[in-house]
Amino acid sequence: MAQMRRPTSNIQHPTSGAALIEAALAVRHNAHAPFSRFQVGAAIEDSSGRIHTGCNVENVTYGLTVCAERVAVFKAISEGARKFTRVAVAADTDELTPPCGACRQILWEFCGDVELILVNLRGKTETLRLKDLFPRPFDASFL
Ligand code: THU
Repeated sequence: MAQMRRPTSNIQHPTSGAALIEAALAVRHNAHAPFSRFQVGAAIEDSSGRIHTGCNVENVTYGLTVCAERVAVFKAISEGARKFTRVAVAADTDELTPPCGACRQILWEFCGDVELILVNLRGKTETLRLKDLFPRPFDASFL
């Protein structure tokens, strides 16, 4: 059988979106959410195609809870990754769950206007860009 060649337009996206979505859905099961029972998974793809994952980790103080997206970003940064191509966020809601305001700020800081894939457990997905959710960010250009 002829070998499939990867289209050159895929260079920025070395993995398929399906792999990123699967990673977000899978890591969601690790959520530590005894207070809200709201489990979230996030997966972030770096420019070499590596996928970094995170789930929400709640705390009894509530305020120290960290969202799945921030866990994924900080894990990726601490592994040395610096450029990111796509982020997927998975939750069990009919209306797809978007990143909270704090996570939008963190995602903007490290990923810029990244592609964002929202997904639920029934296979519904929506792809947008961070700028759609975070149109006028405060960033280092103001300093
Ligand atoms: N949560 C996330 O992990 N990501 C989001 O985008 C929205 C909210 C978490 C935080 C908390 O553990 C639970 O969902 C309910 O707010």
